[in-house]
Amino acid sequence: MNRQWILKERPTGMVGPQHFELRTSPVGTPAAGEVLVRTTLLSLDPANRAWMAPSPTYKAPVLPGEMMHGFAMGEVLESKAEGFAKGDLVDGMIGWQDHAVMKASDLTKRDRRHRPEHLMGVLGVTGLTAYHGLLDVGMPKAGETVLVSAAAGAVGSIVGQIAKIKGCRVVGTAGGPEKCAWLTRDLGFDAAVDYKAGNVRRALREACPNGVDVYFDNTGGEVLNVALFLMNLKGRVVCCGNLSQYNAEKPEPGPAAVPGLLVVKRLRMEGFIVMDFADQQAKAVAELAGWLAAGKIKAAEDIVEGFENAPRALAELFQGRNRGKLLVRV
Ligand SMILES: NC(=O)c1ccc[n+]([C@@H]2O[C@H](COP(=O)([O-])OP(=O)(O)OC[C@H]3O[C@@H](n4cnc5c(N)ncnc54)[C@H](OP(=O)(O)O)[C@@H]3O)[C@@H](O)[C@H]2O)c1
Repeated sequence: MNRQWILKERPTGMVGPQHFELRTSPVGTPAAGEVLVRTTLLSLDPANRAWMAPSPTYKAPVLPGEMMHGFAMGEVLESKAEGFAKGDLVDGMIGWQDHAVMKASDLTKRDRRHRPEHLMGVLGVTGLTAYHGLLDVGMPKAGETVLVSAAAGAVGSIVGQIAKIKGCRVVGTAGGPEKCAWLTRDLGFDAAVDYKAGNVRRALREACPNGVDVYFDNTGGEVLNVALFLMNLKGRVVCCGNLSQYNAEKPEPGPAAVPGLLVVKRLRMEGFIVMDFADQQAKAVAELAGWLAAGKIKAAEDIVEGFENAPRALAELFQGRNRGKLLVRV
């Protein structure tokens, strides 16, 4: 039997297990051009919550009664598609289910020489988001200050480490003293600010005495508000995500510095979606894999065991339980 997590009702505030129900149905059989996949790792992403909202993002929202959308990795159990064989490792929008019959064209075959956990993190969407967002949108130069929010999370922890490789001074924000200590002690950040400890403005000003040249914004909200005032002339604000607002019942008003400070400081504030750089993926993965092998990047993964725990783990992501990439092992 196949197990699926169904969105029972749309959350209006914080997402929790009460918004999901488990449904079982017989495992399907692939037709021509399709494969049967057994899910092995489920990626838990802040975007899961954004996709539950009624308004479309860069993809259509999940409707109540539908299986929860999600990115996952799996192993081919049976193939009726050319180029795919039993045992192949694949990933794609498999959804929150432990078996899937899918068009092979909707899946990507992955290289078994890498650890599956790395393929779902530093060598997957997470690493590519950090890589392209920082290097292609933020364009940091050696000696500049890079600030990143949600720095102890999946994307943020890689952004900071790439910025160090590029010779920048790196400051991160994270929730709690343990995460902040981890950033400076284990990941090589120059400074970290606990945004939950109060007076973020003063703490960030002290942590960035030369201002900020690139702000990699994973959160929006208060840290974005403050960061805009710390930006240097011709600074770049990389809009990657809006973590602080995904569970908000009423979205906060936009930052006070827009548009005034953008004009005065000639700032560039630019959003991106990782798929925008799909044509450069092979080069980016090769460079990330090289840094990983050379020990220049540490890949942190936070793995929750058991498909049945996916809804709880998603709620915990928004309580800050994870360090690095949050995955569910199915
Ligand atoms: N543009 C793209 O193509 C793209 C692709 C992937 C991801 N993203 C975005 O990138 C951002 C980071 O994603 P990720 O996968 O790396 O997730 P993540 O950072 O691992 O997300 C979880 C962390 O976010 C922090 N957090 C949770 N609620 C928060 C809140 N209300 N305010 C501030 N921080 C909060 C928590 O850390 P603390 O303990 O530090 O609070 C938590 O551990 C997200 O905004 C995501 O939507 C964008």
